[in-house]
Amino acid sequence: MILVTGATGLVGSHLLYHLAMNDKKIRAIYRSEEKIEKVKEVFSFYTDDITLFSKIEWLKADITEVPAMIPAFKGVTHVYHCAAFISFNPKDYKEMRKVNIHGSAIIANLAIDAKVKKICFVGSIASVGDSTTGGFITEECEWNKEADNSGYSITKFGAEMEMWRASQEGVEVVVVNPGVIIGSGFWGSASGKLFTQIHKGLPYFTEGITGFVGVIDVVKSMILLMNSETTNERFILVSENKSFKEIFFLIAEALGKKKPSIHIKPWQIAIFWRVAWVISLVTRKPPLISKYSAKSAHAVSKYSSERLKKQFHVEFEKIEDVIVRVGKNFKEYYS
Ligand SMILES: NC(=O)c1ccc[n+]([C@@H]2O[C@H](COP(=O)([O-])OP(=O)(O)OC[C@H]3O[C@@H](n4cnc5c(N)ncnc54)[C@H](OP(=O)(O)O)[C@@H]3O)[C@@H](O)[C@H]2O)c1
Repeated sequence: MILVTGATGLVGSHLLYHLAMNDKKIRAIYRSEEKIEKVKEVFSFYTDDITLFSKIEWLKADITEVPAMIPAFKGVTHVYHCAAFISFNPKDYKEMRKVNIHGSAIIANLAIDAKVKKICFVGSIASVGDSTTGGFITEECEWNKEADNSGYSITKFGAEMEMWRASQEGVEVVVVNPGVIIGSGFWGSASGKLFTQIHKGLPYFTEGITGFVGVIDVVKSMILLMNSETTNERFILVSENKSFKEIFFLIAEALGKKKPSIHIKPWQIAIFWRVAWVISLVTRKPPLISKYSAKSAHAVSKYSSERLKKQFHVEFEKIEDVIVRVGKNFKEYYS
């Protein structure tokens, strides 16, 4: 039996589809019925065959609640741990610690108790250290706890540590550290929100550079690593390093919309996030932009996926092609 946490999210739902293509039994964690409908939407981007969806056994549980999670591990041999709370709002730090670190500690403990054979954990490039030589960031770059890390980075690093603890207790572990993931569905969050914003006419762009990868490459790499002999290794998953400007322009082209034309400079965004923070204090609503999302909009960080490519002879889909496909799905969804 395979257990998938975070099954109702972008990565988890695409993973479920690719797992359901095989004959293995799958148990998926969910918290609300509406989110299961979102998973069905994701399946519909691939197929009209509803029998695939019915292969999934759904179990309602919060990963931070041990009693609810104990039954989830019954008969489980392999765990894909995708659940996480993603936020750059400093107010969410405590909750992120609870879900990402404490929740992962619970997954680790239950996996050890249930004698699970292998865990594939979805980390992030946010929990890989910076390059000290100015070159590409690789899996070997050490995490710097003294750096001005976001709460998300800190908690993803903490979660990864819980997975390595499980590996010390006899569970085989592989970790993937994807860049910004682009995939169809979930148009109101993460990269899906970018498609929505550009569709509505986002006028701004920034010139920061980071790593991007398609969700299909992420889930295929996870399945490949899970089914391999490889253990106790982490793998950065990045197809290409691109500027936000390039990505925004590609999305605008794919959607047939106007390209953003106003270049926001670092000093402008530095004022903007401070103003947004003050407004959020008054309105008690999450800020439109936080210090860390502002910082990443201008940061230049380039990542290398050579480890996975060399060990498994795989190539990732070009980001332009990913965006064209996702853009097509976006247009069909809203037509
Ligand atoms: N998206 C990216 O660009 C990106 C990049 C690098 C790494 N990652 C990592 O990839 C993984 C999946 O990300 P995603 O984009 O798929 O995120 P997502 O769409 O926000 O999905 C997060 C999933 O985690 C679940 N979850 C959150 N808190 C939970 C809790 N307390 N108990 C049980 N489930 C909980 C959510 O459940 P609900 O549906 O009930 O909320 C949802 O299924 C995460 O670990 C993230 O850190 C994402």
